[in-house]
Amino acid sequence: MKTNINLKILLLGLVFIVGSASMVVAQSKDWVAPKDADTINNPFAGNADATKAGKKKFVQLCAICHGDRGKGDGIAGAALQPKAANFTLVKIQDQTDGALFWKLTEGRAPMASYKDLLTEDERWQLVNYIRTFKK
Ligand code: HEC
Repeated sequence: MKTNINLKILLLGLVFIVGSASMVVAQSKDWVAPKDADTINNPFAGNADATKAGKKKFVQLCAICHGDRGKGDGIAGAALQPKAANFTLVKIQDQTDGALFWKLTEGRAPMASYKDLLTEDERWQLVNYIRTFKK
């Protein structure tokens, strides 16, 4: 009986280890937003005031990981796995506003979801500001 319980504990442990390992593998892949995110329209496209508001929020909340210049080199970002995204890269700037909006709404560890922390307007303002890092 006793060995049976020990075996169960061992098996549970194994399942946990395999589960965590596959999560790490999944995390190392590029983060892709679902296709329908591309169709969400940015209500602030080309709105300079919104971009300015986005900058303010970015400095407060995002620069610590993504860096003041959006290069993913903030003091808390460089050591993360995966690293905080570098917004100057083509692979980021090639995405639609809707895809970027979806990502910062949903989040993916180690980045938080901003669905409940920021209003929809604030999230779009941030998307506008992310565009200013385009080279
Ligand atoms: C705790 C550090 C941290 C903070 C704070 C943070 N991020 Fe991130 N962010 C990350 C990491 C790490 C990734 C990469 C996640 C991945 O690829 O799985 C990321 C990815 C992203 C992406 C997706 C890039 C891509 O791959 O297409 C966007 C957009 C983004 N962040 C926006 C923001 C915005 C806007 C804020 C502030 C409201 C913010 N982040 C705050 C760590 C952070």
